[in-house]
Amino acid sequence: MTITNGEAASLRSQQWFGAEGKTGFMHRSWMRSEGLPDDTFRGRPVIGIASSWSELTSCNIHLRALAEHVKRGIWQAGGVPFEFPTTSAGEPLVRPTAMLLRNLIAMDLEETLRANPLDGVVLLAGCDKTTPAYLMGAASVDIPALLLTGGPMLNGRYRGTDIGSGTSVWRFTEEYRAGRIGAEEVAEAEAGMSRSQGHCMTMGTASSMASVAEVMGMQLPGSAALPAADSRRATLAHVAGRRIVEMVAEDLRPSKVLTREAFENGVRANAALGGSTNVVIHLLALARRVGVPLELDDFDTLVRDIPTIVDLMPSGRFLMEEFERAGGVGAFVSTLGPLLHESAFTVTGSTLGENYADAQAWDREVIRTLDNPVKPAGSGIAVLRGNLAPRGAVIKQAAAAPELMTHRGRALVWDSLQDYLRDADDLSLDVTPDDILVVRNVGPRGYPGMPEVGNLPLPRSILQAGVTDMVRISDARMSGTSYGTVILHVVPEAAAGGPLAFVRTGDIIEVDVPNRRLHLEVSDEELAARAVGWSPVVVPGSDRGWTKLYVEHVVQADEGCDLDFLQGASGAAVGPQAF
Ligand code: FES
Ligand code: MG
Repeated sequence: MTITNGEAASLRSQQWFGAEGKTGFMHRSWMRSEGLPDDTFRGRPVIGIASSWSELTSCNIHLRALAEHVKRGIWQAGGVPFEFPTTSAGEPLVRPTAMLLRNLIAMDLEETLRANPLDGVVLLAGCDKTTPAYLMGAASVDIPALLLTGGPMLNGRYRGTDIGSGTSVWRFTEEYRAGRIGAEEVAEAEAGMSRSQGHCMTMGTASSMASVAEVMGMQLPGSAALPAADSRRATLAHVAGRRIVEMVAEDLRPSKVLTREAFENGVRANAALGGSTNVVIHLLALARRVGVPLELDDFDTLVRDIPTIVDLMPSGRFLMEEFERAGGVGAFVSTLGPLLHESAFTVTGSTLGENYADAQAWDREVIRTLDNPVKPAGSGIAVLRGNLAPRGAVIKQAAAAPELMTHRGRALVWDSLQDYLRDADDLSLDVTPDDILVVRNVGPRGYPGMPEVGNLPLPRSILQAGVTDMVRISDARMSGTSYGTVILHVVPEAAAGGPLAFVRTGDIIEVDVPNRRLHLEVSDEELAARAVGWSPVVVPGSDRGWTKLYVEHVVQADEGCDLDFLQGASGAAVGPQAF
C-alpha cells in the first residue's frame, strides 16, 4: 500500500517514531539494533503480532511459525511487523485452572498494545482461554485488530476409529473406572489422541470460540476450521498480514465489528454449532468490554429457534477435519442464512453475508440442513432460575439426557471437589441414580477461577451398575468437550454466599428444564436460618499476587467472570511522555 503524508501523520506509531529531537532518537535508535532501515520508521503502519505461543501451551506451539507468515504479508503490504509474547495459559497444564489467567492475559495484552507504537494487531491465539483473552484485551484498546486462531489438531486415532480431544478422554477414563477396558487401551488412546499441532479438534471451547469469532467477523473467512497442520493455514496467515495493514488504513477497529448484531450472531452460531457453555462466559465478558448490552438470558431466548446443525463431538459424531472438509464456517453460515444478521460488518470490510455469498456445503452428514438437524431447535443452552440460582445457571441440553430434563431428587452435597472425588470412588457411598450430585465452592471466587469440573465423574458404584448419567449441579464450568446432565455456572456461587452454600444432603431439588426452573424444596426462612454465622471458604494462596486481585475483583459468571475494573474500554491513548 502507498502511504500519503497525511495518513502517515495520523498513524498512532508516529507519535513515537515520527518525533524529532531526543524522543524520536530514542524510539528509533534502539529499534535499529533489530536491523531495521531508517525508512521503516517514517510513516509505515506498525503492526503488532500478539502471540500466545508457549511450550507450556501445546495447542499454541505452532504460532511462532505462523507469525512468520503473518510478517511476510505485513511487509508485502508496506507495514512493519513486530511479534511479541504475552502471558499464555494452556488447558492441559495450568493449575488450578487456565481460567484463572484469562483476565491476566487480557490485561497483559491491553497494556502492551497501549504502551507501544502499534497501529494495528494480529492476534495469534488458539487454546481455550487465549482466544477470548485476546479479543477482550484488543477490544478494550480498540486499535484495528484481526484474530487468527491456530486451527484444530488432526483427528485423533485409536484402533481404526477417530477419537476427539477431551470427549474421548472422559469416555476412556469412565470405561476404565467401570472396569470395561484396561490400562493398555487407555495408554493407546493417550498416545493417539493428539496427533499434530493445533487446538482441540472436537467442538470444544477452542473450536467453538474460533468458529464464533469468525461468525462475529473478527477472523478472516475460513480461519476457524482449517487444521493447524494444513499448509493453507500459512497462506491464511500471509493474507491476514496483508489485511491488517489495509484495516489500519480503513481505521477498522473492533468496536465497528463487535456490535449487538455480531453478538447475537455469536450466540446463535454457538447454539447451531452445539458449541461450548464456556462461550457464554467469554461473550458476556467481551460484550462488557465494548459496552454492548448482552445478558445471560440472551443465550436462552435468542436460540430457541436455532437447531444444532453441525454433527461434531461432543454433541455429535465428527471432528473439525470433517467440519472443514464439509465447508467449515462458510457453509455453516450460508446454511443458517437469515437466522443470522447477514448485514453484520466484518474485518474483511464486507458483511457476513457478502463474505460467504459463494459458500457451499460439501457434506450434509456433517453440516446438516435446517430441516434435518442434529438436534431440533430449542435444545441449545437453557438458563435456569429459582431459589437455588437466583441469577441463573446454565445447562447444555444437547449434551444432557432427555429423561433427566425434568427430575426431582435427593441432594448429595460436597463442600469441595476433592471431598467428592474421594467419596465417588468409595463403593459403599450411599447413592442412587435418582440422586442429584451437588458440589460447591468451585466457582470463580471459590476455587478460584471456576474450573471445568462441573461434569463430575459419576460415583464408581453407579458406573459399575451401567448407569451413564445423573443430574449434577455446581458453580463450576465444564469443558466444552464434555457431556452429561450437568447444571453449571450457578450464580451467585457458594463462595459469594449464594443459596448453593446452604443446600444440605437430603434436601430435595427439582429440575424442570422445559420451564427453566431450578428449585430447592427448602423454605426461605429455613435457608435464612442456615445462613446465620456462615462465612466464605478461604482460598489458599489468595492473600497475595494475582490470585488476591482476582478473588477480590472477579465478577460472577452471569457477567462473564471479568475483573470489575477491567470491564469497559480504556482506549489507545497514553499519558504524558517521560522523555
Ligand atoms: Fe488447548 Fe483444548 S486443551 S484447546
Ligand atoms: Mg477447556
